Amino acid sequence: MVKKVLVVVAVVLGVLVVGLGVAVVVLSSKLEERVAFPQAPLPELRASTDPAVIAQGEYVVRTAGHCTQCHGDYERARPADNTPTVALTGGFAFKLGPLGTLYSANLTPDVDTGIGRRSDQELARTLTTGVLANGQLSFFMRYAASDLSQEDVVAVISYLRSLQPVKRQVPVGGLTRLGKAAFATRTFSADLAPSPAHVPAGPAPSVERGEYLAQHVALCVSCHSRVDATTFLPTGPRAGGGDPDASPGESDADMEFVAPNLTSHPTGVTGKLSEEQFVERLQAGRAYPFSRMPWENLSRMSQGDLRSIYRFLRQLPPVDHDVGPTYRTRGSYGG
Ligand code: HEC
Ligand code: HEC
Repeated sequence: MVKKVLVVVAVVLGVLVVGLGVAVVVLSSKLEERVAFPQAPLPELRASTDPAVIAQGEYVVRTAGHCTQCHGDYERARPADNTPTVALTGGFAFKLGPLGTLYSANLTPDVDTGIGRRSDQELARTLTTGVLANGQLSFFMRYAASDLSQEDVVAVISYLRSLQPVKRQVPVGGLTRLGKAAFATRTFSADLAPSPAHVPAGPAPSVERGEYLAQHVALCVSCHSRVDATTFLPTGPRAGGGDPDASPGESDADMEFVAPNLTSHPTGVTGKLSEEQFVERLQAGRAYPFSRMPWENLSRMSQGDLRSIYRFLRQLPPVDHDVGPTYRTRGSYGG
């Protein structure tokens, strides 16, 4: 998650203050080796021109998989502009302070500025392993983007290929020497595990469809659970609530968010809300402009999918964890 990436950045900054110096120069040259995974396999998947496949891809990109949250052309302070038809021309700057700035890619098929020159296999590799066409790992695509089934990967690539090409040069970003040194001490890995099995939307909502979406596509579980800031592995129970995270907003820099417990315990969202109320809450959308939850995308998922997610969350082991107010002054709540 972006959240995790930023937590990492915060941890890394803390370590740096303690005193690196000469090491910066030595370490910065090491990062390129550590994020190079040219051996990651190029999956033998091919885009389709079948309108049903393209429509399935559009649904993933614009709703459940929330690709437009990062690749859409809109101002982050105006999340309502992440509309169902927002252009996928990228260019959003992820500012990592003194460590550098990374920009999301133009996903339209323009040959000079978009994905026009990428093969289906290269795109499939980025989506399944997080490795870019140049063989380097993308932190964002590895740790903050959906882990799709092979069928959804094909659907997404088919949809991206069907878009009108838009010429828009995204600035070339990158880590500074300090950023490279900071990240060089960490272990990164391409995702070489098999893709999750595909679970299509059936005629009725199901726990299995809910699990595929909540765990792998909409990423409800990764944001709404505690994770270790250095390994990204869960340190808390599934969907039992996240860790406090400083608001990314400039106008509310003294505030923090915490993703609430989603389990069926009385302290959890699916313990407090009926299925109808849960669907209504998701559809009502965003309450806070700077919350990292991709409300604009997730609120437009189908009713069946929202119900499937509720049913999956309801049957997880209940977790007794009241996270307190989800938006609050930093450090004001000890729970
Ligand atoms: C949290 C933000 C984020 C999300 C969510 C996200 N991306 Fe990305 N993506 C990026 C960034 C940033 C890059 C640029 C590479 C880098 O600097 O890491 C990128 C790169 C890519 C690339 C490589 C483009 C190229 O030039 O080869 C593809 C393809 C891609 N993303 C597709 C997707 C799709 C499809 C989704 C939804 C399933 C998605 N992304 C979700 C941030 C994101
Ligand atoms: C990128 C991180 C992220 C993802 C992905 C995410 N959430 Fe959240 N969620 C949050 C944060 C942070 C909050 C608290 C701030 C807010 O309400 O927006 C939150 C709040 C909520 C709330 C409480 C709203 C209220 O009325 O207080 C619900 C319900 C919820 N999320 C459900 C989900 C579900 C279901 C999914 C997957 C379909 C999901 N979230 C995906 C981060 C995330």
